[in-house]
Amino acid sequence: MRPPCRPAVPTVRLLLPLLLSLLGAPRGVGAGPAELRVRVRLPDGQVTEETLQADSDADSISLELRKPDGTLVSFTADFKKDVKIFRALILGELEKGQSQFQALCFVTRLHRNEIIPSEAMAKLRQKNPRAVRQAEEVRAPEQLHMDIAVNFSQGGLLSPHLHNVCTEATDAIYTRQEDVRFWLEQGVDSSVFEALPEAMEQAELSHCRQVGDRGKPCACHYSLSLAWYPCMLKYCHSRERPAPYKCGIRSCQKSYSFDFYVPQRQLCLWDEDL
Ligand SMILES: *[C@@H]1O[C@H](CO)[C@@H](O)[C@H](O)[C@H]1NC(C)=O
Repeated sequence: MRPPCRPAVPTVRLLLPLLLSLLGAPRGVGAGPAELRVRVRLPDGQVTEETLQADSDADSISLELRKPDGTLVSFTADFKKDVKIFRALILGELEKGQSQFQALCFVTRLHRNEIIPSEAMAKLRQKNPRAVRQAEEVRAPEQLHMDIAVNFSQGGLLSPHLHNVCTEATDAIYTRQEDVRFWLEQGVDSSVFEALPEAMEQAELSHCRQVGDRGKPCACHYSLSLAWYPCMLKYCHSRERPAPYKCGIRSCQKSYSFDFYVPQRQLCLWDEDL
């Protein structure tokens, strides 16, 4: 008779040249979010620290990283509401007369296969916190045309995370018609969404780079990258277990590029430096 609960540790070590593994017992209810700090290599080669938090009670994951230019990028996955929120806090260049920082929020539909479940994320531990991690897989970049505004005061009806995450971006929360259609079918109230003035008719609206007048509306562009995130669970086989079991993660990197309407060209000043 074999011992029922012996972990197959040697097998795991052999099968996985993995830096991270799923260890430990499930967290108790009310234990609060689990946090993991990892050092990651950005697409441009620089190293930064990334914080990943998972809250299995709220069924959500959040990720935050600071880019070398000071921009704070955050990503929140709300599995309960099928919502993901990207936020960028972009530092202004004070010597150019820009404000201290500018916040942007992009809200889109979360699909199940984009990132590992929150309960698996909450169990992630790393063996070597000093190691610099590089994603195993670079996923295809995504272009998103953000053509609808989200009303901040109604945002809680879409996701309870929106208020916290997008506080600094009350006038700059964007989403897409195709995502809105999905959420409306899920029963989200339509008062959350507002049409943008020009409905982003790209043909008529000039790109901000081509607009000289800082008071004119234009189509702005912003891209960000999630440098390292657990995108899939890995399964191992063991002679001691009847079925494959979760024994690690696969890490991914992915870039997102957003087009959106700004009422004034001066709200899109980073486009100048391109
Ligand atoms: C947001 O929604 C509230 C409540 O429906 C409304 O009073 C307010 O005018 C809306 N804000 C904007 C900017 O449309």
